[in-house]
Amino acid sequence: MKQFRETLHESGYSQFYLFFGEMNMRYRDWAVAAAGLRAPLKVLVSLFLLGEPVSQAQADRLIGAQTTQQLIDAKILKSAGETLTSNSFHLVVHRGLYYFCQVTGDPFAYLGEDSIALGQYQTPLWNRRVLDLCSGPGIQAMYAAQRGNEVTAVEQGADACGVQRINLALNELTTRVTLVNARAEDFVRSEKRVWDQILFNPPLVPLPGKVETPSVRHGGHDGLELVREILAGYRERLAPGGHFEFVGMSLSKGRGKRLESPLLTLAKKQRLSGRVHLLSRHQIGGSGVIFAMHAASVARSEATSTDTARRQLAVEYGDYEDFLLYYACLHANRGAQKSVLNLVDMAATHYGGWFS
Ligand SMILES: C[S@@+](CC[C@H](N)C(=O)[O-])C[C@H]1O[C@@H](n2cnc3c(N)ncnc32)[C@H](O)[C@@H]1O
Repeated sequence: MKQFRETLHESGYSQFYLFFGEMNMRYRDWAVAAAGLRAPLKVLVSLFLLGEPVSQAQADRLIGAQTTQQLIDAKILKSAGETLTSNSFHLVVHRGLYYFCQVTGDPFAYLGEDSIALGQYQTPLWNRRVLDLCSGPGIQAMYAAQRGNEVTAVEQGADACGVQRINLALNELTTRVTLVNARAEDFVRSEKRVWDQILFNPPLVPLPGKVETPSVRHGGHDGLELVREILAGYRERLAPGGHFEFVGMSLSKGRGKRLESPLLTLAKKQRLSGRVHLLSRHQIGGSGVIFAMHAASVARSEATSTDTARRQLAVEYGDYEDFLLYYACLHANRGAQKSVLNLVDMAATHYGGWFS
């Protein structure tokens, strides 16, 4: 990994990538700019941004044969005869960290706007104990580790864990993050520790249970299936003054004081207090884009027409009016009788921002 890091530094890979912005996915610009590059930068850009084949001998010389093999074992690279190609992975750069993530319809190492949102807006703690549940390739864990926190990352997917191990090694964070390959619901039962900050970006898409969708996304009928388990299971694992921080998508109806959402009901049930930022609303039915995407998923999964799927979904979501994208920062309301929630409604005046 040392040789890989040095080659990345010396070739100017990070500066090439960052010319187009942090965490950018500007494929066309990469390709146009790559035409004028020379080795070794050209080889790195071809393999890790453009998805073009590169000879294995060349890759071995540049980043070390042992690292090449580790990337193949982690399913980041695919080997075919004498050549290597990326398995839909990009090596992106953000906040001084190199980060392998998979950009495809059904990823095992997810990166989305929700990841970046929770990654960069998580409350910055220093030298504390941080838990990152549903850690995936590790973006939340790595940001927390950069600030000297003692981090535990929990992820159920073995392949996602393999990618996170590479990301940690590449950024020399292996000793600061303890990665556990487990389900969040099981991990809590084997643990006695408490944490100052519990971060999670769970599978969050509100969909009927029977609809097939990549497991990194399906959040149950109201988007809160795993959120419910985590808040109940980990409530007692918050250190004094500790808090949960998470992003997600749920359902809502009404506005202002009349806002109703299963998310608020859940927070109250768990006697959690704090802030819920409403980031964007998307109409259920009508011309709502997210609704149309969900209807397409249902139609595919059930081999039915989009119109039938739209009618099915309308029944499923009942009288909820909107999908609500949110960020929540909640603490256990020790000693208090009830939950006190402060709603910060950005969606009332703005569209998008953070993640939309
Ligand atoms: C939306 S991705 C988030 C990944 C990463 N934390 C991020 O922000 O980009 C959700 C992740 O949760 C994992 N996951 C799903 N159910 C889980 C569970 N019950 N326990 C632990 N991880 C789970 C999935 O494998 C996936 O990697």
